[in-house]
Amino acid sequence: MEHIIGYDLARGLHIIAVIAWISGLLMLPRFYAYVTASQPGGELEAAMLKAARNLRMIILTPSFILAWAFGLFLFATYVSGDWSRPIGEVLAAVPHWFWGKLVLVLGLSGYQGFLSSEGRRLAKGERRHTERYWRLMSEVPFLVAIAAVLLATLEP
Ligand code: HEM
Repeated sequence: MEHIIGYDLARGLHIIAVIAWISGLLMLPRFYAYVTASQPGGELEAAMLKAARNLRMIILTPSFILAWAFGLFLFATYVSGDWSRPIGEVLAAVPHWFWGKLVLVLGLSGYQGFLSSEGRRLAKGERRHTERYWRLMSEVPFLVAIAAVLLATLEP
């Protein structure tokens, strides 16, 4: 059945959106580390808070939406197949790797929500975590991305 965009184009656009999303999730905690290490009210703090806000608005939010949109499009059109069957049958036929990947990407989405709320707190001068904490946190998305990519490509 013909879909609005072909499978390979949708997969390509999905991967491009995912690269931007993960890059943003890797960079943002590092900006928070600089904010945390900076003089409260100083020039560096203002510059890093502005950079963090721009990163959230220009990269993270659009790529998050596009990664989900193309991912769900791929799921609804090519992975889950014929929706005229009973929903139980459709869901039972979904490969296990996809449920594992969905848990990981829901985790990444929750992590993005946490980063957004911490960004608003830092802008109000609330520094709840250390510089070291943010440097460590910036590694987390990469570890999750490794697992998500292997699930999506190996389809175990
Ligand atoms: C945001 C929610 C996401 C959804 C709903 C989703 C869903 C999907 C679906 C349905 C496919 C097609 C699989 C197939 O053709 O058999 C796919 C492909 C892929 N996804 Fe995602 N995905 C999401 C996020 C991610 C993330 C965060 C990563 C990596 C960090 C990722 C990496 C990939 C890769 C590399 C492929 C291509 C696999 C291949 O063609 O071999 N996806 N995704």
